[in-house]
Amino acid sequence: MIRPDEGCRLCGLCAGRSRIVLPSGPTDASVVLVGEAPGENEDLSGVPFVGRSGRILETAMAEAGFSRDDVMITNTVKCRPPGNRDPLPEEMAACRRFLESELAGRSLIVGLGRSACADLMGIKPPMSEIANVITTVRICGEDIDFLPTYHPAACIYRKEARERLAEAMSIVRSRL
Ligand code: URA
Repeated sequence: MIRPDEGCRLCGLCAGRSRIVLPSGPTDASVVLVGEAPGENEDLSGVPFVGRSGRILETAMAEAGFSRDDVMITNTVKCRPPGNRDPLPEEMAACRRFLESELAGRSLIVGLGRSACADLMGIKPPMSEIANVITTVRICGEDIDFLPTYHPAACIYRKEARERLAEAMSIVRSRL
């Protein structure tokens, strides 16, 4: 797995970060969950999904019968976008080399939300059209199963998103 240098300046997000947020979880996990970008809590702690979205994700994983110690968790970009805006295509492209090295050789990649799905699938349809339909993405010359699903933040006010995320976590459980 390749990691950005501490002083990485491959895109403009370096200007606003406190720290680079590297993947969490076992480096040999068969499943990797890919979120959008670090938020404020992640920028402060250096760990992905530790804020409100992280708590929602952990609850969904626990209800499906596993925990964050069973999977690797990462983001499309490793530095916090200003004001928590969506990462730009050029920022995701700059970080892509690190993401690909994190994903290579896994048995299942889960895209949490539209940014991760757009980055990895190269398309940005409404989540309601693609959620929980397994497809494949090409990573380092190999087709890997890809499960697009809702971002935990979308579950705060939307029952459908909550139900689909729960279903996606059950699929993950069956692949561990
Ligand atoms: N925290 C993350 O690490 N990624 C997200 O997409 C949201 C919150």
